Amino acid sequence: MKTILIIAAMEEEIRPLIDDGDFRKREESPFSWYEGERDGRRWIVTVSRVGKVAMGACVQHFITMLRHASEFAGDEIELVINMGVAGAIDRSLNQGDIVIGDKLCQHDMDVAGLGYEPGLNPDYDSVYFVTPTKLVEAAKRAYESMDTEYSLVVGTIASGDQFVSSHEKKEYIESTFKAYACEMEGAALAQVCSDNDVPFLVIRAISDKADGEAPLSYADFKAAAIVNLTGIVIGTIEQM
Ligand code: ADE
Repeated sequence: MKTILIIAAMEEEIRPLIDDGDFRKREESPFSWYEGERDGRRWIVTVSRVGKVAMGACVQHFITMLRHASEFAGDEIELVINMGVAGAIDRSLNQGDIVIGDKLCQHDMDVAGLGYEPGLNPDYDSVYFVTPTKLVEAAKRAYESMDTEYSLVVGTIASGDQFVSSHEKKEYIESTFKAYACEMEGAALAQVCSDNDVPFLVIRAISDKADGEAPLSYADFKAAAIVNLTGIVIGTIEQM
């Protein structure tokens, strides 16, 4: 069976998706998950917890489980999706707008002391992990088929183990990586999926502008941003 793995950093980022379907919860350690079937596919929906380490561990755990556990024998991982909120780096973006990551990077990866360019992990050839084009196209079609007041951009998403809320950090991420949005997990998911040869898509809704106001606007807007995003995630899978 084709299997879709959907991962968010926080429970509230998957709650509207779970409430929209018929899922049963599997309580297991170290990661519980929700499991259901939709349009002939198995959907596994889970929460990594915040940050790149948590996300890296979570993605690898589920890829290994789906590939090696006997109950999933014959399953094929069609796609791993990371959904959630993000801070806006690009000035055109407002709360609720959607960013599809066509490239993912780690803005806090820094081996400059050994002569590497900002963001480059010496074990890899590039700063950026590139999303398969057909998944970006499916997400765009899903957005276009929705009636929403929010805008969509396709561009680089930069991840780091930091909540970005200063002008200086925002400027650095913008000028160094040409990123549209920042968050704390997407590039970890992209790296682990690339290592395992699994297709991935990171899609985020803007909750704040990654500036001095970010802590307050993040708290106010997170829930609303997620509702809009959930429709696009479901639509993307239908478009595949
Ligand atoms: N997720 C949502 N807003 C964010 C921000 N400003 N920085 C990092 N991750 C975020």
